[in-house]
Amino acid sequence: MRVLIIGSGGREHALAWAIAFSPLLTKLYVAPGNPGTAALAENVPIPASNIAKLIEFAIAQKIDLVIPGPEAPLVAGIADACAAAGIACLGPTAAAAQLEGSKAFCKDIADAAGIPTADWAEFTDEDEAHDYIEDVGAPIVIKADGLAAGKGVVVAATEDEAHDAVHAIMGDKIHGAAGAKIVIEECLFGEEISVFALCDGLDALYLGVAADHKRVGDNDTGPNTGGMGAISPPPWASQEILDEIMERIIRPALAAMVERGTPFRGFLFAGLMVTEAGPKLIEFNVRFGDPECETLLPLMQSDFLTVLQAAINGTLKHAAITWKNAASATVVMCAKGYPGAYATGSEIYGLEEAGELPGVMIFHSGTMAEQGGILANGGRVLAVNAIGDDLAQAVARAYAAVDAIEWPDGFCRRDIGRRALG
Ligand code: AMP
Ligand code: GLY
Repeated sequence: MRVLIIGSGGREHALAWAIAFSPLLTKLYVAPGNPGTAALAENVPIPASNIAKLIEFAIAQKIDLVIPGPEAPLVAGIADACAAAGIACLGPTAAAAQLEGSKAFCKDIADAAGIPTADWAEFTDEDEAHDYIEDVGAPIVIKADGLAAGKGVVVAATEDEAHDAVHAIMGDKIHGAAGAKIVIEECLFGEEISVFALCDGLDALYLGVAADHKRVGDNDTGPNTGGMGAISPPPWASQEILDEIMERIIRPALAAMVERGTPFRGFLFAGLMVTEAGPKLIEFNVRFGDPECETLLPLMQSDFLTVLQAAINGTLKHAAITWKNAASATVVMCAKGYPGAYATGSEIYGLEEAGELPGVMIFHSGTMAEQGGILANGGRVLAVNAIGDDLAQAVARAYAAVDAIEWPDGFCRRDIGRRALG
């Protein structure tokens, strides 16, 4: 099989790593890729946003399977363009990608499918949104409807904060057109988890559970980020809860998508809160998570490409995945300043030595190669993963690798997995 992965982060490095050694693979490309994927595949200098060029390349290189990593090309219709070119794509159509592209669409599907989720209302009129906040009070959650690079959600502790958020999104238009509509919803309390499923339109195969660490600072302080680290499995996700999530949330969502004429194929990512009343959906994403992907794929025993092929062929019903009897932890190393302004170009040393430590795999998120060295080239720069016999060992191994990496201009959270370990 000739495969093209689209994207340039740690998630795409992990996807490439999981596919690179498959007996089914004959050629692997990553567009645009990074120095990590360059060691496993051929990088192609086409940005993930240039769908026309990507399709042209896929046709010319007789690609059998396109795997988009990030949501933007999916929302922009790369799966539709692949279908028009007769190329299989492991991702939803633009219509189905609205599950992530529009929070109101996601809530509609949740309601249609009877999925437990936070109570909500949508607004296109700012005054009505302010009135609603007066009625229901705080804490309350304000969300820009469209894609806002992970910055479109405000969990407001007070009514003042909620009013400010509404005004910033609708009045000052800080997220542009993504904030023309907003969703206001009930604040959920509990432990957050990310559950992943591979979907072929009709069926879903469980791909794992992880706990992300979204805030930039230790003890969950500071602003939200794309994710500073993840662990799997989180101790608060029992088998019973996971079964309930598959049966009451994932599978009903797939059925509702079929009902709507937009069947979902690809990686379905459910962001959930495990509340006292059971698991509730926060949101769906239409892709693998980052750094969840780097955390889950090292646990997989089965051949990943074989499983992906089943999703493309519509035979997931008969597919199964075997997992290593292990736990996994990822620590993300970032450039100082992230998620605010940061500098690029500082050199990172010790990657080779760190990568040889037991259980460790270092995924590149935002790096560039220059004269034999590796330089920082993004906010999130490295996803340092380790697996171990249990979570304590995985976390200790990941930090041993972090400590073996010499990068004075970088930082990471020092408490990944701490709460899970009690
Ligand atoms: P998102 O950008 O949609 O992933 O949301 C960012 C974060 O906001 C989530 O990971 C949650 O921690 C938080 N969040 C979103 N919706 C709710 C909610 N209804 N209740 C509590 N927290 C929420
Ligand atoms: N780590 C969360 C995400 O990928 O959206």
